[in-house]
Amino acid sequence: METVPLSDLGLDEGAHLLIERGLARCGSIEVQGTAANLAVDLPAWCRARGHAIERTRSGFAIRRGTADRWCGAERAGSIARPVDHAPVRWGLAARGALVEAGAPELDLPLARKQDVWADEAARLYAQAAAAQWDPATAIPWDAPHDHPAEIEDAIVQIMTYLIENETAALLVPVRFLGRLHPQFREVMQLLAIQAADEARHIEVFTRRACLRRDTLGLSTAGGQASLASLFDEPDFAIASFLLSVLGEGSFLSLLWFIRDHAPDPCTREVARLAAQDEARHVAFGLAHLQRHAREDARLCDRLAAAIERRHAALAHTAGLNGEVFDALILLAAGGWEPADLRRGHAAVVALQRTMDDGRRQRLNRLGFDSVRAEALSALHTRNFM
Ligand SMILES: [Fe+2]
Ligand SMILES: [Fe+2]
Repeated sequence: METVPLSDLGLDEGAHLLIERGLARCGSIEVQGTAANLAVDLPAWCRARGHAIERTRSGFAIRRGTADRWCGAERAGSIARPVDHAPVRWGLAARGALVEAGAPELDLPLARKQDVWADEAARLYAQAAAAQWDPATAIPWDAPHDHPAEIEDAIVQIMTYLIENETAALLVPVRFLGRLHPQFREVMQLLAIQAADEARHIEVFTRRACLRRDTLGLSTAGGQASLASLFDEPDFAIASFLLSVLGEGSFLSLLWFIRDHAPDPCTREVARLAAQDEARHVAFGLAHLQRHAREDARLCDRLAAAIERRHAALAHTAGLNGEVFDALILLAAGGWEPADLRRGHAAVVALQRTMDDGRRQRLNRLGFDSVRAEALSALHTRNFM
């Protein structure tokens, strides 16, 4: 029997670590110590853990109990990769942890790898963490601007529209984040940092709008109806398809358009930096849906049906508000000469074509053939997002 000398260390000072270490090495040990309360504390401690204890001439003989609370414990997947279907009984345990039986079950229904996973999630998360930028220093807020007041009004209207859409882009994934099983840690982290990206976009668009104005532009019922149809979508695959692949994909083109036609460095930078982040959001949406489509042959039909359903539901609404459309024309025109406006209008028509091209390419990557991709892209909301 191994002897474990505690010296004068009490159980209330960490002596239990020495005893557990001894019991783990060999099931029976003799404990010797001079702490004042040892004779009272040690039997109570052993009883609570199911260990047998007896007084000996020089101390206490302890034999490890047979009741093991870790009997029935289960490994929550492996650190390296998630399981195909994570059980609710693993709760919030870290992936790869040994989970004691009887932990509370949580309502985390997004628990199937097929529905949420992309191998790219870890890399995209790392990329996002490295690419976070500080609005206070990354944007030239004090840069001079000399564009006409009406162009500034157009920018304020565009920013107002962007803020509303960014709010949807924040709230939609966050609702799914709250239902995602933590077994899919990398996806959870990626959605969280995506929410932080959107929070920053809301901040910089708001600050840009308020640079020279103290009121914002218009928010229309049609635009909000389009966003509400994203907000109300209960299915993760459909919501990320409509939001990330089609909506944020179209927004990439819009942000590049604003960057390219911005009359001042501040507007250019907020659009450029937001577009950098959006590219990651689109990449994750595409990656997990491509994977999902490979594993579930019916997914593409479900996604197509979702576009058609949304189109029918929004058919009676105006879609993009006319003021945003006109503001984009004015931004690209840069002035009021007829030739300017013709150029601005042509640029917005070209923007819509670029958005359509991008949507069709992404639909192709998900497995839709060109004819179907063209038809479905045409049904995408006129609100862009
Ligand atoms: Fe955003
Ligand atoms: Fe986004």
